[in-house]
Amino acid sequence: MKRPFVIAIDGPAASGKGTLARRLAAAYGLTHLDTGLSYRAVAHVLLRHGLPLENASAAETAARQLDLSGLDRATLSTHEVGEAASKIAVMPGVRRALVEKQREFANTLPGAVLDGRDIGTVVCPDADVKLYVTAAARVRAERRFREILAGGGEAEYAEILADIERRDARDMGRADSPLKPAADAHLLDTSQMDIETAFLASKKLIDEAFAAKNKT
Ligand code: CDP
Repeated sequence: MKRPFVIAIDGPAASGKGTLARRLAAAYGLTHLDTGLSYRAVAHVLLRHGLPLENASAAETAARQLDLSGLDRATLSTHEVGEAASKIAVMPGVRRALVEKQREFANTLPGAVLDGRDIGTVVCPDADVKLYVTAAARVRAERRFREILAGGGEAEYAEILADIERRDARDMGRADSPLKPAADAHLLDTSQMDIETAFLASKKLIDEAFAAKNKT
């Protein structure tokens, strides 16, 4: 029986994993899920209702009710929502509810590219290809900084760097599903790579996995 082809991409904030995931999904005709948006959407519900981010039962209810098909990147992409997302993402009940929906998404033919923090380790441990995309914190801060300025916003580089370092510590240090490369992930350090180079390097790894899968 035909199985979905799944590509798992993990990595820290502003590592370039989202752009890479979108390009790979388009290149291979797969669907794409930015799992960060699902954590952002839960945080956004709490912020919108003026509820404290420590309210685990409200966060769990929001997670269970979430519809992955209705996530709006524009409202969820703010810095404030990202910071709030990493706070509710430590809650095991929230993670259980979201991971279940993410697995369902991944298990639909023809397959999918999922990007996040725990895709290769928890959500799709049997993924056909796992990539761990990273870059030095100062390079990631620089990218975020330019993105904000390009969008007409204002930002302080030192503040962005401090934010990224704080978020890394929270994501890597939490007890449930911390950010770390899966044992069988390919590491891709994009500190010195543009998106095209990262895309071509990933494509090579995926083509090899594709060929191996079609042989069996
Ligand atoms: O785009 P950026 O890297 O800033 O953040 P994101 O991918 O949208 O994720 C926001 C937050 O959600 C992260 O800092 C994580 O704490 C959390 N998250 C997670 O715990 N597990 C995932 N699979 C995806 C995101």
